[in-house]
Amino acid sequence: MTAEAVAVTRSLSGNTPGGSAAVLEHYQQSLMNTFGTPKRVFVRGEGPYVWDADGRRHLDLLSGLAVTALGHAHPTVLSAITGQIATLGHVSNFFATPAQVALAERLAAMVGSPGAAKVFFTNSGTEANEAAFKITRATGRTKIVATEGAFHGRSMGALAVTHNPKYREPFAPLPGDVTFVPYGDASALTAAVDDDTAAVVLEPIQGENGIVVPPPDYLAQARAICDGHDALLWVDEVQTGMGRTGSWLVHVDQGVRADIVTLAKGLGNGFPIGACLALGRAATLLGPGSHGSTFGGNPVAAIAGLAVIAVIERDGLLERATRLGEHLVDTITGLGHPLITGVRGRGLLRGVTLAAPVAAQVADAALDAGFIVNAPRPDVLRLAPPLIITTEQLDSFTEVLPSLLEGTSR
Ligand SMILES: Cc1ncc(COP(=O)(O)O)c(C=O)c1O
Repeated sequence: MTAEAVAVTRSLSGNTPGGSAAVLEHYQQSLMNTFGTPKRVFVRGEGPYVWDADGRRHLDLLSGLAVTALGHAHPTVLSAITGQIATLGHVSNFFATPAQVALAERLAAMVGSPGAAKVFFTNSGTEANEAAFKITRATGRTKIVATEGAFHGRSMGALAVTHNPKYREPFAPLPGDVTFVPYGDASALTAAVDDDTAAVVLEPIQGENGIVVPPPDYLAQARAICDGHDALLWVDEVQTGMGRTGSWLVHVDQGVRADIVTLAKGLGNGFPIGACLALGRAATLLGPGSHGSTFGGNPVAAIAGLAVIAVIERDGLLERATRLGEHLVDTITGLGHPLITGVRGRGLLRGVTLAAPVAAQVADAALDAGFIVNAPRPDVLRLAPPLIITTEQLDSFTEVLPSLLEGTSR
């Protein structure tokens, strides 16, 4: 970095005069209130830790929100991004770059279809799902079967397949012809899917709904049901994909072929990138002019994705996610705490289920104690730590968990 760049970075990331309170006052005046009042102002991250504007260190057990799987400021990702931006930071999609093509090929191989899967790059999971939604419309059919509890994003198309009425109702009418069925219930899918169905959209594990794991053969059954009606199977791996659950992609690990796969979050380790992959006949449904993006597929985002994949492979992080996930389950259930009813999920995407609706209180207490977790449901705590975390760092949270639970008013 040049001296000038170092100075600018330091001035933006050092302890802020007036600390968090001063930044939050300006935040409230200048940002839309879509996220509520931020609980902390963060200025720096390294590995699994982030530091707030008052100088306090926190263990980031959420990885942003299932994003920074390699931890903050990972040196390989950092040098890939800075090297690329110093060489070529942007070209329009009238042109191609080697990084974009290399990442598309890696992702196509990941879905088990090198040469037969095609990629549309986006900047987020929502946009990846928007692209997927347009692919389904290009089949000539309009009906989509989605699941209760599903979350696929907040744009109008992604919201149309997201279930939560609180998110949907204020923005009605949404793009139509979406039927919701109970998640994990293959007979409900059988009853809902017919010859008018363009696609079934599913998360392999519902993340925002509280880490809900369906029966083991659910995705395979969904595949068979889609095949029976020539409908597309659209698998949203935005939260579950890119190693978080101990395999690159849950559905591939289960031997299921999808027609459309959406990715984002962990793909860029914090650099914004999403991808919509389409296989077989779905791969050619969108043609020139039917979709686009100014930034999607830019070389810096693409090189970040390539660096993430290389580090996960080099450092054996898939196996590590599986091993540490099992360690988390053993140690948390081993507490034998009366408020903890179980730990569900896969790899390092876990939901700690509670016997009372105190998850938000526990998450607040955890933050005060220097740990970042969240409460996707009133009775579920979510843990999605970076894949590079150590057992000692995980244990430091498990050790304080009983005192956090005991501090709640039930
Ligand atoms: C399964 C799933 N799909 C889509 C999205 C939306 O992704 P983004 O916030 O990157 O737009 C999310 C975000 O939480 C998600 O969990």
